Amino acid sequence: MRVAVGADHAGYDLKEAIKQLLESRGVAVDDVGTVSRDSVDYPDFAVRVATAVAAGRSERGILVCGTGIGMSIAANKVNGVRAAVVGDPDAARLSREHNDANVLAIGARVTSVELALTIVDVFLGTPFEGGRHQRRLDKIEAIERDPSMAPHPQTHGESKH
Ligand code: RB5
Repeated sequence: MRVAVGADHAGYDLKEAIKQLLESRGVAVDDVGTVSRDSVDYPDFAVRVATAVAAGRSERGILVCGTGIGMSIAANKVNGVRAAVVGDPDAARLSREHNDANVLAIGARVTSVELALTIVDVFLGTPFEGGRHQRRLDKIEAIERDPSMAPHPQTHGESKH
């Protein structure tokens, strides 16, 4: 697996720790920066990771900023990217099983290093469940193509799924 990683100054230290973890797991890492704690703008790095994933150069992306929020907002502007801000391992698992999230956004100012590394392991190790969840992703793709053509809501006789 190849994973693109990026961070701003707030996420730089955690990105380095994540990079180490990935390399120890035999994952190929494409580090798009930043390269120090000097102040930078997170969208510049979000777009590099997002386009690497959308173009298929990397299977997954990991972005780190102070909260993960700015990175996820920016990454989700790129068609084909499903970026999820995650702060616990259950959400990491569900972001893969239900949403087929292909970019993980983590907040270095709100997540401990230990927890972040656990989240990364779960995110990379969990497959997409498909089925009814694929139908919902197809609707997200339809919104990307043309929001005015988005399908109407319908029920499917399921609850809590
Ligand atoms: C930088 O101070 C901070 O705003 C950024 O890292 C991020 O948290 C934005 O969402």
